[in-house]
Amino acid sequence: MPTNSKSEYYIQLEEHYNAHNYHPLPVVLEKGEGVYVWDVDGKKYYDCLSAYSAVNQGHCHPRIIAALNKQASKLTLTSRAFHNDLLGEYAEFICKYFGYDKVLPMNTGVEGGETALKLCRKWAYEVKGIAKNQAKILFAENNFWGRTIAAVSSSTDPTSYSGFGPFTPGFEIIPYNNIEALREALKDPNVAGFMLEPIQGEAGVVVPDEGYLKAVRALCSEHNVLMIADEVQTGIARTGKLLACDHEEVKPDILILGKALGAGVLPVSAVLSSNEVMMTLKPGEHGSTFGGNPLACAVAMEALKVVTDEKLAENAQKMGEIFRTRLRNIPSDHIETVRGKGLLNAVVIKPYGENKTAYNICLALKENGLLAKQTHDHIIRFAPPLVITEEQVNACCDIIERTILAETTA
Ligand SMILES: Cc1ncc(COP(=O)(O)O)c(C=O)c1O
Repeated sequence: MPTNSKSEYYIQLEEHYNAHNYHPLPVVLEKGEGVYVWDVDGKKYYDCLSAYSAVNQGHCHPRIIAALNKQASKLTLTSRAFHNDLLGEYAEFICKYFGYDKVLPMNTGVEGGETALKLCRKWAYEVKGIAKNQAKILFAENNFWGRTIAAVSSSTDPTSYSGFGPFTPGFEIIPYNNIEALREALKDPNVAGFMLEPIQGEAGVVVPDEGYLKAVRALCSEHNVLMIADEVQTGIARTGKLLACDHEEVKPDILILGKALGAGVLPVSAVLSSNEVMMTLKPGEHGSTFGGNPLACAVAMEALKVVTDEKLAENAQKMGEIFRTRLRNIPSDHIETVRGKGLLNAVVIKPYGENKTAYNICLALKENGLLAKQTHDHIIRFAPPLVITEEQVNACCDIIERTILAETTA
């Protein structure tokens, strides 16, 4: 529970007027800078969630805020009814940055996923030659790509889909990290695509076996099926490479990006692909009022330049090693495993105490000045901004160690 009336006021206001579709930690934030955030009482915390990896470049990065401000006073939105002088420049920049022919700009991650599925189906009918309305798209068990009807239609998590049917047809679920299951599913000639996260974030930072992504790539190519990588959470340097697929030198046919593309400043997502796939879409068949707006273009370009200039992938790789080594050395029987890549990591806690879950540890971490969020009952994800220094990583590890030891032996 909040420990003071100021926080309590904001929390109660929110609870009264806002839908109860989240269960946040009882902390009310009002300021952020780099890896730190401050609550309304001035208490400072390490942010070890980074808004689910949207704030990879750190809170209120001065260069990105400057780009935002410069563009905000010039032109913010034209809609796609007209051209604007930044969309072309941005499209060229992001295509070259990630090595694709074309980009389709959207706003949120889930819209990126929807866009990828529409592209995949259009390609299936116009290029692959699948009969009308027969295209199937494969998803991995425990996937998470958002909350729309299509996204929950492909979900295997009852909390996500229960009560929201009827569901979108044409989706099939196969186990994650299981190449034989994929091989079997691909025997169906109506399969048009396989959409997967290279590391499953919301499922609890589930890292597939080495070689899985390469094998997925090879099988998709062999069967003329599009490999669709959802890098909304893993992309943009989070896992220690620009893309998580880069760890296995794999290039997906369709790449979905979101979150850190807007650096936590604006919702910016993008779908990148080849001319063959992208040119199946004709005017009027897909779009978004805000997608490709000049403000988002300015922010996204600066966000990506910061990633390169500040070597954030390299830093995530290095800091991630230090982080996992430290956490693996915590002398506690209550830690089942520590896993992850770069600065996308999770600690799996063994059940402890009566009715205690990872949420209780997150509450204790908050008291000790570090914000993290549990996923499922016993997993805590740690994903600080990628600008974190070695000294700050060690300070975070000190807090985590102290908190887990105290909480699980209390
Ligand atoms: C892998 C993945 N894809 C898609 C999404 C959806 O992004 P958004 O919440 O911006 O719609 C998320 C959100 O957590 C995600 O983790």
